Amino acid sequence: MMKLTNCILVACVALLLSMHMHSSEGATDEDVERLFEDKVKKGNSKIRPVKNQSERVEVEMSLFMVAILDVNEVQQSVEATIWMKVFWKNELLVWNPSDYGNLTLIYPPKENMWKPDLAMSNGYNELAPVGLDFVLLKSCHDGQTVWTPGQKVHFLCKIDVSKFPFDTQTCNMEFLNWAGTKEETSLKYRDPEIELPYGHVAYPNSEWTVTGM
Ligand SMILES: *[C@@H]1O[C@H](CO)[C@@H](O)[C@H](O)[C@H]1NC(C)=O
Ligand SMILES: *[C@@H]1O[C@H](CO)[C@@H](O)[C@H](O)[C@H]1NC(C)=O
Repeated sequence: MMKLTNCILVACVALLLSMHMHSSEGATDEDVERLFEDKVKKGNSKIRPVKNQSERVEVEMSLFMVAILDVNEVQQSVEATIWMKVFWKNELLVWNPSDYGNLTLIYPPKENMWKPDLAMSNGYNELAPVGLDFVLLKSCHDGQTVWTPGQKVHFLCKIDVSKFPFDTQTCNMEFLNWAGTKEETSLKYRDPEIELPYGHVAYPNSEWTVTGM
């Protein structure tokens, strides 16, 4: 849920969306190659990453608002650029760092890795996958995996302009995992651990302030 308040803002600064990096000091290219050979190459993107295939993959997602691009009363829709952090555990890609020169983090290729099929269910256009495909996955030795795609979204929101120009709108962004059942994959929201410079948005909009998420 997102709250927008109509107002005027002029400032604009750049933001570095920094990500926490794990150190892989000590590991050589041979360690990485060996790990890929042992664990990554046999990975299959079609197989859910749980040892017991009757168990659910628990996916969590945080959402960051990069910018509000347009709030359209006629279409009753909002366009925004968002950035997501999607987390899950890959039980099939777990290793002991000391066996691989203390390597704790790798960027495995997508074709060898399962990832959730996220879509926006209140999108303005047809149901389309969320998350650009070129964005790398990051996998930690304990199986924790993170995917941080960002993109432009256009979604439906009931906009009431009766109080213009001091109106507040509440809009929902609804996501689902469109492939598979609830028994196979769950999707939960996780509050972001990063503060954005303009409260809830990275770049301010000249007309709207995001006052809550
Ligand atoms: C891995 O970490 C251990 C403990 O910190 C250290 O003793 C060892 O030298 C490290 N190995 C490499 C290859 O850096
Ligand atoms: C797999 O998970 C199901 C559901 O949690 C459980 O009933 C079953 O005993 C598990 N099988 C094994 C081999 O652990």
